[in-house]
Amino acid sequence: MNEELNAAASAAAKERYDAPIYSLLTQAWGGEMIHVGMFEDNEEPLEVGMERSSHCLAEAAALGPDMVVAEVACGVAGVARHLAKTYDCKVRASNIAETQLARAQELTEADGLEDRVTVEYGDFHELPYDDGSMDCWWSQDSLYHGGDRLRVLTEARRVLKSGGRLALSDFVLDPEIPDAARPHIEDVVGGSNMWSYERYRGALEVMGFRLLETFQGFRPVSDTFARLRSRFAELEADPAVREAGPEAYDRTLYRLGLWIEEADNHHIGWGYWVAEKP
Ligand SMILES: C[S@@+](CC[C@H](N)C(=O)[O-])C[C@H]1O[C@@H](n2cnc3c(N)ncnc32)[C@H](O)[C@@H]1O
Repeated sequence: MNEELNAAASAAAKERYDAPIYSLLTQAWGGEMIHVGMFEDNEEPLEVGMERSSHCLAEAAALGPDMVVAEVACGVAGVARHLAKTYDCKVRASNIAETQLARAQELTEADGLEDRVTVEYGDFHELPYDDGSMDCWWSQDSLYHGGDRLRVLTEARRVLKSGGRLALSDFVLDPEIPDAARPHIEDVVGGSNMWSYERYRGALEVMGFRLLETFQGFRPVSDTFARLRSRFAELEADPAVREAGPEAYDRTLYRLGLWIEEADNHHIGWGYWVAEKP
């Protein structure tokens, strides 16, 4: 049953991230990282906020030289390259979207980082890594695409060494959300399987992880999507819009607006959790 749920969730995510419009959206994200940023003021560019959120996770996870990090759902592996450069660690980046994997490989080679960053196909419901082989399991803003979330977290625990750290950020849903708001949210995220901040926290504790640092907020989501939406709007005349189809472009622009609206309504938030496997 859950196998079917996981396969359906993975197929839907793959379709979304392999679609031509997503390459244009990746350009709006800055071409490297694709996740929520934490901003100190309204002038900071998207990239600065995104590096800050990765930095918060990396510091809490105490990343350092010679550690091996499994970065699951890696997008185009911008985070993997950033971590390898900044913390001198080795990163095994995995993803299911073939277009992103190809771009990730291209960018990693262009940076001359193949000795520290590997890019491979991997579904986070069933990782291609041995038990206890990783110092850190890392994922930013991707698990909301998953099917059986407990299965994903169990995989994280399995591949971690004892004393290894889980560094996770994701979108969260306000558990008190009115039923009337749900169809809108499903339209925004393209699915109805988001967890709340408390549910992640509770699940990690029940699984025996020792929580080291957590955060939750709504502001980072609207700050991030407002920046992204205005950059994406500037790309309207890009030849890639013709290739992807104007309908796909309009729909993406509309959905970016919904993210901002639902964050401002305090329905969709974001959080991070850094925890240690005993
Ligand atoms: C919002 S992007 C985040 C990318 C990356 N974490 C970053 O911060 O740049 C979400 C990613 O999740 C990936 N994804 C979704 N479902 C997945 C699954 N079942 N297994 C592995 N990756 C998945 C998508 O292909 C996409 O690359």
